[in-house]
Amino acid sequence: MKEFLNKKIEERRKSSSSVGSRKGIGVAGLHEGRTLLVALSRTTLARAVAGCDLEENKIAAARKEMPDLFYTRSYKEMLSRDDVDIVAIYTPDAVHGQNIVEAFEAGKDVICTKPFVNSMADAQKVLEVARRTQRKLLVGQSTRFFEPFIRQRRAYEKGHYGELELVDAHYIHRMDWFYEKSPWAATDTDWIFLGMSHPIDLVRWYLGPIEEVHAYGYTSALGKKCGLQSRDVYVVNLLSTSGKIARAMGHYGIREIPSARNCIELLLCGTSNSGLAQYHDMRYKYTNDDGTEVCEDPLYELRHYYFNSEIHGMHYGEFANYTDYFTDALINNKPYSPNLEEGIETFCVMEAVRRSVQTGKPVAVEPLLREVGLKP
Ligand SMILES: NC(=O)c1ccc[n+]([C@@H]2O[C@H](COP(=O)([O-])OP(=O)(O)OC[C@H]3O[C@@H](n4cnc5c(N)ncnc54)[C@H](O)[C@@H]3O)[C@@H](O)[C@H]2O)c1
Repeated sequence: MKEFLNKKIEERRKSSSSVGSRKGIGVAGLHEGRTLLVALSRTTLARAVAGCDLEENKIAAARKEMPDLFYTRSYKEMLSRDDVDIVAIYTPDAVHGQNIVEAFEAGKDVICTKPFVNSMADAQKVLEVARRTQRKLLVGQSTRFFEPFIRQRRAYEKGHYGELELVDAHYIHRMDWFYEKSPWAATDTDWIFLGMSHPIDLVRWYLGPIEEVHAYGYTSALGKKCGLQSRDVYVVNLLSTSGKIARAMGHYGIREIPSARNCIELLLCGTSNSGLAQYHDMRYKYTNDDGTEVCEDPLYELRHYYFNSEIHGMHYGEFANYTDYFTDALINNKPYSPNLEEGIETFCVMEAVRRSVQTGKPVAVEPLLREVGLKP
């Protein structure tokens, strides 16, 4: 495994223009954030320096795996450290806005996991403070940085699909275990943000700005049993400003899905070809101009990097990929995506979905962009 990772990191070093200037990363929230701390051993432009959590047991677990870092229960103390250049936030959804504002005020750039924010007030505040402090933020949309989705994007940019005519994305996952671990998921957020941020970001990535959404939602039996206050089943139709259309779907009270489907899928239908990227089987399937179908399946080759050697594990590779990508953009002053403005736009699309479900009517996105201050 070490040999494999070294090879992968060596490849990246060769293609990197920024070797030598590694940015220090401080991570807040050490459940999913612990994954990033471990994954930072795979990065070439960033290194782990600090971890922070309110709970001592989370710190102890992280310290066991990475004993040489600075740990604290005080977010402010982590922000005050000079060796922390970028703060990576993996706290509960409703806390992200305040964490981001404090990091910007402390002069730090930020990686914030999805969903970036989950309220209009937080979107407005974060935008205002970013403009004043001139700090930068990457939304950690992990799916974009998973191997099949990287390959699909590369093919799309090379013209393999022609013009896109339909985008179909979903994220489906049984979540009773998540409520047990993180009770805030039942009361302090909504699955339109927590789960649907994956497919809605994917649609936005391909179709650009979204003009209008029309959605239906439902609360599953499993969601009700777990005390869910909002909805956990969503079907969303999206119309982009270019006139192209998409569907996004989510179900977080499902029992199990048969193996033919994956929990996250992105189907692109273009004038030339169609193709499907899957998480977490790590398959990329696509048609060719001659009508043949190809299935690229690098699971056994890349599971060490993406899943820490398990067959199906958690997001080590994606987190390493996006941290290096963002660090490279900061060091070399390059554009990157999804940045803060795109993240706010995607939040507004999700908020429009929430309102559409409440009213049963289509909802335009533009008034929300004006309300949060993204558009005049
Ligand atoms: N694909 C992905 O990128 C992905 C996957 C899973 C979770 N997430 C996101 O990560 C975030 C956290 O999810 P999780 O499953 O780790 O939740 P969790 O409830 O298991 O962990 C959150 C941790 O944050 C800590 N915390 C709360 N407030 C804090 C503060 N002010 N400062 C420091 N620590 C604080 C808690 O003590 C807890 O340990 C969520 O927003 C979730 O959507 C992203």
